[in-house]
Amino acid sequence: MKKLENKVVFITGGNSGIGKASALEAAREGAIIVVADLENKEHDETLREITALGVQCMFVPIDVSDVERVKKAIVTTVEKFGRLDVAFNNAGIGGVYSGIHDMPEKEWDRLIAVNLTGQFYCVKYELQQFLKQGGGVIVNMASLAGLKAEHGLVPYTVAKHGVLGLTKNIAVQYANQNIRGNAICPYYVETPLLNAAPEEVHTAWIEGTPSKRLCTADEVAKAFIYLACDDSSYCNGTQIILDGGVMA
Ligand SMILES: NC(=O)c1ccc[n+]([C@@H]2O[C@H](COP(=O)([O-])OP(=O)(O)OC[C@H]3O[C@@H](n4cnc5c(N)ncnc54)[C@H](O)[C@@H]3O)[C@@H](O)[C@H]2O)c1
Repeated sequence: MKKLENKVVFITGGNSGIGKASALEAAREGAIIVVADLENKEHDETLREITALGVQCMFVPIDVSDVERVKKAIVTTVEKFGRLDVAFNNAGIGGVYSGIHDMPEKEWDRLIAVNLTGQFYCVKYELQQFLKQGGGVIVNMASLAGLKAEHGLVPYTVAKHGVLGLTKNIAVQYANQNIRGNAICPYYVETPLLNAAPEEVHTAWIEGTPSKRLCTADEVAKAFIYLACDDSSYCNGTQIILDGGVMA
């Protein structure tokens, strides 16, 4: 039995990295996939790969920092597939390394708008749909930077801590309405998000990890599937850490 057979799974940032790997893994588990991502991104290849796995899928344009786009993406999903079973709020951006004392306000606003306020918008309108239909599952993408300071990545660290706070509130407010919310906290994952990092920084991340390698998007996708399906039915308001031993 597949773990997400005919479940409608909505994934923000589903066109790249962790989101794409999770979309493909959910498709292998029998889900109907909604890839929600920025409109200007090439998504045909992602939809082609998902369709090749024998499931239905759709692309919806979204900018998670724009509340009207978020509402529209969720309405479009429900209009097309009748319901929303699992939401993976995964879209996010990296930041620039800076001291707090010289952090440009614009950089703070940009990071918080996408990585924290964007998560809130998605969660809010997903919950409204879950309450209408009698339940659902939310998985929020945080980071190891949600649990400890990532030196110099100030608004990123703050946003990811906030995502865990939001996730805990889902559990305490909606657990008795058949709604669960959990988060994933990876250390560095080999995705296009890391492309801008210089070679020596990349090497330092690997050296700083007891497992001496970074996480893969497929490993995060496996954690997503666990939190999305009934295997994790008593898991609520918490997080899976994927860090190769860093926190130990
Ligand atoms: N790669 C890592 O090392 C790492 C580690 C921990 C957590 N994360 C988190 O994982 C998530 C996915 O990152 P990734 O590594 O797959 O990166 P990625 O750059 O490969 O993918 C991010 C996706 O989000 C989309 N996106 C960006 N801004 C958006 C917006 N405003 N609205 C909608 N979509 C938007 C992008 O178009 C892209 O498809 C992010 O939240 C990131 O913070 C990544």
